[in-house]
Amino acid sequence: MLKTLRSVVRFRPPRVRAADRRLSGVANVADYRRIARRRLPRGVFDYVDGGAEDEVTLRRNSEAFRRLEFRPRVLSDVGQVDISTSLLGRHLPAPVVLAPTGFTRIVTPGGELDVARAAARAGLPYTLSTMATRSVEEVAAVSDGPKWFQVYVWRDRALVTDLLARAAASGYQAIVITVDTAVLGRRERDVRRGFTLPPKIGPRTVIDGALHPAWTWNFVRAEPITFANATGATAGDGSTAVRLADYINGQFDPSLSWRDLDWFRAKWDGPIVLKGVQTASDAKTAAAAGVQAIALSNHGGRQLDGAPVPLEHLADVAEAVPDHVEIICDGGIRRGSDIVKALALGARACMIGRAYLYGLGAAGERGVDGVLGLLADDMRRTMALLGRRSVAELGADVVCWRDRGSFQA
Ligand code: FNR
Repeated sequence: MLKTLRSVVRFRPPRVRAADRRLSGVANVADYRRIARRRLPRGVFDYVDGGAEDEVTLRRNSEAFRRLEFRPRVLSDVGQVDISTSLLGRHLPAPVVLAPTGFTRIVTPGGELDVARAAARAGLPYTLSTMATRSVEEVAAVSDGPKWFQVYVWRDRALVTDLLARAAASGYQAIVITVDTAVLGRRERDVRRGFTLPPKIGPRTVIDGALHPAWTWNFVRAEPITFANATGATAGDGSTAVRLADYINGQFDPSLSWRDLDWFRAKWDGPIVLKGVQTASDAKTAAAAGVQAIALSNHGGRQLDGAPVPLEHLADVAEAVPDHVEIICDGGIRRGSDIVKALALGARACMIGRAYLYGLGAAGERGVDGVLGLLADDMRRTMALLGRRSVAELGADVVCWRDRGSFQA
């Protein structure tokens, strides 16, 4: 009887570190999200988790992956599965880029530094946002991994010029120009909570903070949060609480147009990724304008609610642009199998946003490591089960839309 009992009961050594204890039993990104939700004040969690208006696009981004079915091949010798690829002319261990997400220090005091270190360990590009709370130089100091810099175009072009020069001097390899934010989308969870950056202390925040003591303790001990890249600029650096919509609508240039790409090419020598392209026709225009890559993205459902869902338009966009223009797909990616699906439809790589922020919120830097590891493991397992050994073998024959029946054998 003791033998039987021993065979079914596994005694684990006691988990010493709090983060270890928290992460034991985590199986997927949704589990990281659940833990982050418990640990972060509601206002902070909603800033990360939420989308624009009715959040229709936010939901559809993820649901689209469920509408795709795989076509596995059996007996294909998957003893060795290789998920590595190349992007913008460089080798990558996996087709994954960490998307720019502003104000990351609201999640952990390390913020962007935590994420950049984890990305460097995984050998994946980390995209630092213009709206970051750590500067271009601070991130470069902790990461010798590949780094990209995301640009929002301020009305104050001198500030943009300065940022591009600083990114080049700090070894950033590419710039990502985000073009879906002429004005800020209406994120109604933030509106309801009166959410400001940095959070203002009022009766509601005090209660929220008291209910999340670990986050609050870290937040009050850390140095004040600012938009680290705009420090000292006329734009304002966020050292006083602002509503994000007021800041962005006041500072960003809504008159940006295709002509401005020439301006960027004159200021930046390296590759340019245009992020926020959403239709095949704009993708064509972007390709003709000479960008190296397009990030097919609706900003994770945070901008135009009702925007096209990247996965559903990926094949059309891939068809519309010449092969040398690489496509990065983002929005709703929560599993490695989602990345496999996007690659099958024509993406060269995927960007992930919330997935790594949930990891960060759940367990800091180790949580980001955990999420990146999960996604890579998922990809390897999915490809083995699909009978595909390398990303080059991921073509349109790998998937079919359940409700469109567009599968060819
Ligand atoms: C973003 N995103 C974003 N994009 C960008 O170009 N500049 C930015 O500063 C930000 N900031 C930002 C903050 C937060 C909290 C989130 C969740 C997202 C959009 C981001 O780069 C990416 O397009 C989406 O996150 C992709 O969708 P998923 O992976 O979050 O579903």
